Amino acid sequence: MTTSEPLQPVPAPARRTVVAAAGAAGLAVALTACGSSSDNSSSGSSGTQAGANASTGGTTGGDSGASASSGSGSGGGTALAKTADIPQGGGKIFKDKSVVVTQPASGTFKAFSTKCPHQGCAVSSISNGVIVCPCHGSEFSVTDGSVKKGPATTGLTAQNVTVSGDSITLG
Ligand code: FES
Repeated sequence: MTTSEPLQPVPAPARRTVVAAAGAAGLAVALTACGSSSDNSSSGSSGTQAGANASTGGTTGGDSGASASSGSGSGGGTALAKTADIPQGGGKIFKDKSVVVTQPASGTFKAFSTKCPHQGCAVSSISNGVIVCPCHGSEFSVTDGSVKKGPATTGLTAQNVTVSGDSITLG
């Protein structure tokens, strides 16, 4: 019969303090005190000091960043004519711009394409309040470009003009 001892770690004695107390003569009393010193692990809870350094940089500088936008008051249109160039109740044809400018009433300016809607000829003259196409004799009102006389069936195409002071510009 074999006795197998389980291998188990032998716990080492924590601390053995032998206190030899010399008593009376000849007697040695050995007192073995097994004192296990309990470790007082004082876990000092260090207070976390939240050092909130609220450094608010109060530089309220009055930024005078007002960049003065230089407003160039130039209209982007193409300078066309002076208001004085346009006869009241009539108009003027600008062949190079393919536009006819009329002044049906004092201070009121209109502009139309010179292209006749009939077959595409350019209107060539203005008389008696109408714009005349030389090709087939169509006539258009200086007031709104509408057809006054055929064979054209539709009026002249209106154009945008801007009157600034005494100058007329396209667009
Ligand atoms: Fe102008 Fe015919 S093209 S009337």
